[in-house]
Formats: sequence, structure tokens, C-alpha cells
Amino acid sequence: MAAPSATAGTDLPKSVQEMSINGSEPPQEYTVKDATFGSVESSPPLGSIPIINISLFLPSSSHDAEQVENELQKLRSALSSSGCFQAIGHGISSSFLDKVRGVAKQFFSLPVEEKQKYSRAVNESQGYGNDVIVSDKQVLDWSYRLTLRVFPQDQRRLNLWPENPTDFGDTLHEYATRTKSVVDLLYKAMAKSLDLEEDSFSKQFGDNTLMQARFNFYPPCSRPHLVLGVKPHTDRSGVTVLLQDGEVEGLQVLIEDKWVRVPIVPHALLVNLGDQMQIMSNGIFKSPMHRVVTNTEKMRMSVAMFNEPQPDREIGPVECLIDEKRPRLYRNVMNYGAINYECFQKGKIALETVRI
Ligand code: SIN
Ligand code: FE2
Repeated sequence: MAAPSATAGTDLPKSVQEMSINGSEPPQEYTVKDATFGSVESSPPLGSIPIINISLFLPSSSHDAEQVENELQKLRSALSSSGCFQAIGHGISSSFLDKVRGVAKQFFSLPVEEKQKYSRAVNESQGYGNDVIVSDKQVLDWSYRLTLRVFPQDQRRLNLWPENPTDFGDTLHEYATRTKSVVDLLYKAMAKSLDLEEDSFSKQFGDNTLMQARFNFYPPCSRPHLVLGVKPHTDRSGVTVLLQDGEVEGLQVLIEDKWVRVPIVPHALLVNLGDQMQIMSNGIFKSPMHRVVTNTEKMRMSVAMFNEPQPDREIGPVECLIDEKRPRLYRNVMNYGAINYECFQKGKIALETVRI
């Protein structure tokens, strides 16, 4: 596949495209106001995000017990501090990860009219487009996205799955299946790291857990300190598995109240927790605040896979994680996805609304 040029696939409105080339001020609706989000610094310090070998969490008699225990400790410490880590040993080949990035880049490089065949309809979450506009005060993200539900399989909206490139669908199906196994393994490992029964989290999810794929595309912007690829947010998921661009940085995580850059570890998967895991772990594990900055010359892409419980399942803090020292922090909730969406529309923080 030919690599897309810096502006290929850049189909933000024309005024914005020109701005991104000639360096003038971005339009009002994309401009980040300092008072709302703090300053947009493209190069804060590099964060030291732990690298964890998740193959040690697979059942195998050949693992060294001490090594497994150390890795579980690392997992617990990463998730209770920053809420994220770089997973290696996930068993997905580097060439396949490059292929996933490749089909995504090919899709985003298509002419606008071609991509618009898959446009997200009003009030729908799936399809191609950018921010859902809920208010005229809203600051828009400097990005385009293609969002597709991949599990449960019978809920796939296949008419929204790109036919070009032709291997998009097969590649996404395989990638979704592989990342689902990764998250299933992680839910068990997270429980073990807290000395819980290994199904303590997964049994709250139901058999038909939701998994959503989101392909993100960030066009270059010559005034990166004035816009955000994605505004600061926490994910609503249980677990998010992120395949970052192999070359262009952009993701930042808030650790101890400071933004840090998330380094690129080319064939690692960045795992970050979402709010529902913070709830189930009674606040022991963190759902980190993160954002994406843009690059002056290069486009960036990423692929996020969000896994969350069946909407009709009630989730809540695992009983064994509630005691006198750590009283229950959250009430039980059903369909946190909808709560999260409603809060987004009202500018509220979803986790605060379920806090006791
Ligand atoms: C997101 O958190 O929504 C996107 C993350 C990324 O593009 O790195
Ligand atoms: Fe996110």
C-alpha cells in the first residue's frame, strides 16, 4: 500500500484544511479555550508507562511462578496508579498489527465521497464522521472516526463496514477476535492481581459483552497548540485496547495531575482501563484521563477497541473489595454507556453521578 501523503484523506471542512496548510488560526469551533481544558502542550515529558508481558498470564505449567507473581504485581501497580500499560506478549504478530494499521490508513485515504457512504446517521453511534454536536459551545475534535460494533457478532452493521480496501472486513474480524481474547485474559489477570477469584470481574459482564472498534484519524494541523485531536476524557469501557500509530505520537495521559506523552512501543498494545473497571474495582484501579494532540506535518491514526458489559447487566464494586478501610465508593449501575452519553451531553462527569 502506498503511504498516504501528509494531507491525503484530510476531509475536514475546506476552511480547516486551508488553515492546516497555511498556518492561520483554526476556526472558532475547533479552538480550545484555555479555561476549559488547560493549555495544549504538544511535548510534555515522556511518561514511563510500564511494559507488561501478558503471555505470563496464560495458563501454562512452564511459567516460572515467581515471574508470574512479579508480572501480576506490576499489573496491579500500573492499574492502581496510571490505569494503563503497554502489553507485549499478546500473541498478535507484528505483521498483522501493521496490516490493521494499513487497512485503516487506506480507508482514511479514500476520497471524501467514498468514505461518506459509511457516514454515521444522526443519533447513531456507528459509522464514519466526527463529533456528535450537542451544543454550540462545544469545542470540536480535530479528527475523523469510523466506529463499528464488532461484538456481539449478530449486532454488526455490515452495511457500514468499508468494502474498500477489500480486506478491511476480514482484517477487522480477525483483529476483533484476537483483541477479545486479550481482554478476556486481562479480566482474569486483573482479578488475580487483587487476590480475587479469576471470574470476579468477567462474571458481571454477561455472555454477550459489547465490543466497539473505533478507527481514529488525525489530520495534521499547523497550529497544534490551538486544537485537540480528542479532548480530555476517560473511557466508559471496562477495558480499552489501543493500537497506536507506529510512528507518530499524540496520545497523552494525566498522571498525578500532569500530562505526559505516551511513548510508541511499535508492536505493543496500549491497554487503558475505562470507568466501568474503576467502579468494579471499587476505585482501586483507575480509569485514566487522556487526550490526543495533533502534529504539524504528519497525520496520525489509531485503532481503539472498547470492551464493556452487556447493557442489561448490573455492574458494581466486587464485594471482597469493600470493607471498613475501603467503603463502597460506587452504587451498582446498569447501562453505564447510556449514563455516560447523557453526562457527555450535559457536560457532567459520568463517574461522579454513580459515586456514593
Ligand atoms: C481516544 O482515546 O479516544 C483516542 C486515543 C488515540 O488516538 O491514541
Ligand atoms: Fe479514549
